[in-house]
Amino acid sequence: MCGIIGYIGGQPSAPILLQALKRLEYRGYDSAGIAVPGNGGFSRIRRQGNLAHLEKAVDLSTLEATIGIGHTRWATHGHPSEANAHPHFDCSQQIVVVHNGIIENFHQLRLDLIGRGHEFTSETDTEVLAHLIEEAYAGDLAAAVTAALGYVEGSYALVAMAVGSPRELVGARHDSPLVLGLGAGELFIASDIPAMLDHTREVIIIENGELVRLTEAGYEISNRAGDPVERDSLKIDWDVAAAEKGGYEDFMLKEIHEQPRAVAETIRARVTADGRVDLPNLDMSQAELKRVKKVTIIACGTSYHAGLLAKTHIETWARVPVEVDSSSEFRYRDPILTEDTLVVAITQSGETADTLAGVKIAKKKGAQVLAVTNVVGSTITREADGVIYTYAGPEIGVAATKTLIAQMTALTLFGLLLAQVNGRTNHEFQETLAELEQIPAKIESILARAETLLGWAESFHHVDDLLFLGRGVSYPMAMEGALKLKEISYIHAEGYPGGEMKHGPIALITDGLPVVVLAPKDNVYDKIMGNIHEAEARGAHILVIASEGDEEIGGLAERVFYIPKTLDLLSPLLSVVPLQLLSYYIAKRRGCNVDQPRNLAKSVTVE
Ligand code: M6R
Repeated sequence: MCGIIGYIGGQPSAPILLQALKRLEYRGYDSAGIAVPGNGGFSRIRRQGNLAHLEKAVDLSTLEATIGIGHTRWATHGHPSEANAHPHFDCSQQIVVVHNGIIENFHQLRLDLIGRGHEFTSETDTEVLAHLIEEAYAGDLAAAVTAALGYVEGSYALVAMAVGSPRELVGARHDSPLVLGLGAGELFIASDIPAMLDHTREVIIIENGELVRLTEAGYEISNRAGDPVERDSLKIDWDVAAAEKGGYEDFMLKEIHEQPRAVAETIRARVTADGRVDLPNLDMSQAELKRVKKVTIIACGTSYHAGLLAKTHIETWARVPVEVDSSSEFRYRDPILTEDTLVVAITQSGETADTLAGVKIAKKKGAQVLAVTNVVGSTITREADGVIYTYAGPEIGVAATKTLIAQMTALTLFGLLLAQVNGRTNHEFQETLAELEQIPAKIESILARAETLLGWAESFHHVDDLLFLGRGVSYPMAMEGALKLKEISYIHAEGYPGGEMKHGPIALITDGLPVVVLAPKDNVYDKIMGNIHEAEARGAHILVIASEGDEEIGGLAERVFYIPKTLDLLSPLLSVVPLQLLSYYIAKRRGCNVDQPRNLAKSVTVE
């Protein structure tokens, strides 16, 4: 998830581009750059790091052009560096491009382009776009962009300029957002509305498959077939802060709603057409993966819960034993690791001190280390032997939501990959891969009913304690539900495996205690029903997350939130969503600051 901006009008573009990038920085901040026409070509200034580094490097007095493009990056392909920062040039620096999205087939396109004599200067997927446009360009930039996109698979929102088409910008969109801004004698094109709110409140949303040409004469939108598109503009009445949150009240709510995309992006290009899993940054051969006799997962907080779920997935699908440890415990435990042990370190930030310390110990003991992280270029990516990236985009809210669901997705793929190398590509394997692709749409259907949980929050926001129960794959989600509630609403909550209740915690159940039970129709459904009866008999309020069509549970529970049916082992990818929403609504009802809860930080870089 990056931020892109293009401007054409009567004012010097550079300050406008920088200001727009400031407004887009929440979309990514590992490097930034701008390009404006100058000296018969383009002046391009790029810097690694956040926008402040670029602002320092730009000498506005030398940049007079009234057209230009800019980008603030959240790395997906290629580490954060000046060379990988956008905008990207073609070979002769006549074409310049900014892009947000993932070009899935960039590796093959790059090889083909190199074969045809093109020279690359970055590791990014984006650079292929500049070279493809270069090959197709014969004086008509829109035609060249259209031709180039004919070769591309993946997601993109892009803006291109060409020296040969001096007063023109061309934008195109597929599966990544792009918005046109209509100012007085000026036009903007950007990833998101905040980029242009200082100049205009009149916008047009560019839809998938559309191309837009911006010139001094105005704009033209065309569809995939090249036919002109007429669309009414919208008037935006949000302030900048609301616009950054996409109109949501908080980043956390926005990020909860971004989960279908986080799952889809994390799966994208990792399932081959012939139904196999391919994780390119893993840096482990089939033989090395086959040698793995034990997996040890280390992580903290929410990432630890993703690890607990991965244990069941890996053990079920690959039949490889898995241990899961809190990094803070692992690092002081003198763990038993051999050369056959693969240590998987899960950390969305890639900077958690305890997890990094655990990785050091694992390496010292000769184990191979695989990192699962959301941040390309983070410390863990340098320490680990291989990486599985999650593609959730930057998460601003301190409480992890979309990064968790992306971790669970990535680890599902990893579990399937281990099954694959161990020759276990049975019917269940194929069925799971196919069902995984359905998960984003199923999350959408949950989000469409989000506000039904407002009623739960209204009834239970005042409580002092809350219990979450789950069994099997739902147990880690019960723990996550409790953690989310604790951290943003400050209500005491516990997540427990249902079967453990009778060994102690059932003593806590008194009249009126709300008990949230995860009860999807899976192999332990009958068992969790038993736990519901036990709690209900002791006067608890029973609030259930159940599978669609389960009428039996409807008669038993005080409230039910239904999730779509799915495979048993994938239900956490759905059941976690209402838990996040419930915590969110309860915290909001209590007047808490959900994005910045007290005492917490987004990355815990100290012990
Ligand atoms: O960046 P990491 O995934 O390593 O962070 C681990 C925990 O600090 C993190 O999950 C924390 O528990 C969050 N606040 C959860 O919402």
